Amino acid sequence: MKSNHINVLGIESSCDETAVSIVMLKNKKEGSILSNIVFSQINEHLPYGGVVPEIASRSHVEHLSPLIDKALDKAALTLKDIDGIAATAGPGLIGGLIVGLTTAKGIALGAGIPLIGVNHLEGHALTPLLTNKVTYPYILLLISGGHTQLILVKGLGEYIQLGTTLDDAVGEAFDKAAKFLDLGYPGGPALEKVSKKGSKNRFNFPRPLLKSKDCNFSFSGLKTALIREAKSIEPLGREDLADLASSYQEAIVDCLTVKSDMAIARVKAEYGDLDIKYFVASGGVASNKAIRDSLTTLAENNKMEFIAPPIKLCTDNAAMIAWAGGLRLLSGQRDSLDIPTKARWPLAEMKLYGDRHE
Ligand code: KG4
Ligand code: ZN
Repeated sequence: MKSNHINVLGIESSCDETAVSIVMLKNKKEGSILSNIVFSQINEHLPYGGVVPEIASRSHVEHLSPLIDKALDKAALTLKDIDGIAATAGPGLIGGLIVGLTTAKGIALGAGIPLIGVNHLEGHALTPLLTNKVTYPYILLLISGGHTQLILVKGLGEYIQLGTTLDDAVGEAFDKAAKFLDLGYPGGPALEKVSKKGSKNRFNFPRPLLKSKDCNFSFSGLKTALIREAKSIEPLGREDLADLASSYQEAIVDCLTVKSDMAIARVKAEYGDLDIKYFVASGGVASNKAIRDSLTTLAENNKMEFIAPPIKLCTDNAAMIAWAGGLRLLSGQRDSLDIPTKARWPLAEMKLYGDRHE
């Protein structure tokens, strides 16, 4: 380790983005991104309307090594300047995870530097500490293509799950609706774009679980309702599509906002000694403007500040992996070269370190 800073190389390969980044951690808590490269495989999956795991793994194999060279070049560093290597070890598509983690193990062994296997969700969860002036504890709404979770983040490795989805993730709800309406892929941004010209009140889609007292979500019924409604008014004109998209998005906004409100109330009731100043949204769906606007108002009503990382760091990237890995490295964690990949790895199961060997 240099005097007051370390450089960490991060690798992300859990889904359809091959990403490499180098983050410098200073004074144990500040981070700066020296390079951050994301290769999106979107075009390779486009013909199938969704991510094909086998194609994803092959694409990671093809692109990862050149991207590592590029990330080092861009940061004007060589492997000799890297103090640790962090790779996503789960959760995600197992083939892609194996490509990234095995590459990281090879580099760690060859360069004689420590390895950290990072939980992808922890990457999303800790991003606001890198991008915004946020301090623990905070409430996190993690909304992505694979996850919909409300989490109380008390510190590094201290995550209390307040709620989760019982079926589809919210990003999946966007993607499946967009696919059904033939709006394009990936579905979230496509549906958001179309919704801008529509009426959010024309269709009254269900808000599943809104009356239940817990902080859980359910989105599969919403998608079914959309399909039923759309079929009942076929053939769909441009205005119909915009109204369906807008009303559908509004139902999602409501579900996320009401359950976030419940989560805040629960934290205030159960963890009254904690001074929670921030409500954070992270993950790809947090790029959605209607969702951001609604959560901003919610946070203000609760005398909290709403924080969402820049969109580039909300969607999958390796800077969040380098950052989370760097924080763990500084906390003393060193993983052995036989750590496994995990398709399933809930954030609430994490501890400070040693958590990989439960
Ligand atoms: O975090 P992310 O890049 O990857 C995962 O870990 O899943 O999130 C991708 C998800 C996709 O479902 C995509 O449709 C959704 O985020 N998404 C959006 C928007 N941008 C991305 N959903 C709604 N509105 C958006 N603007
Ligand atoms: Zn993600």
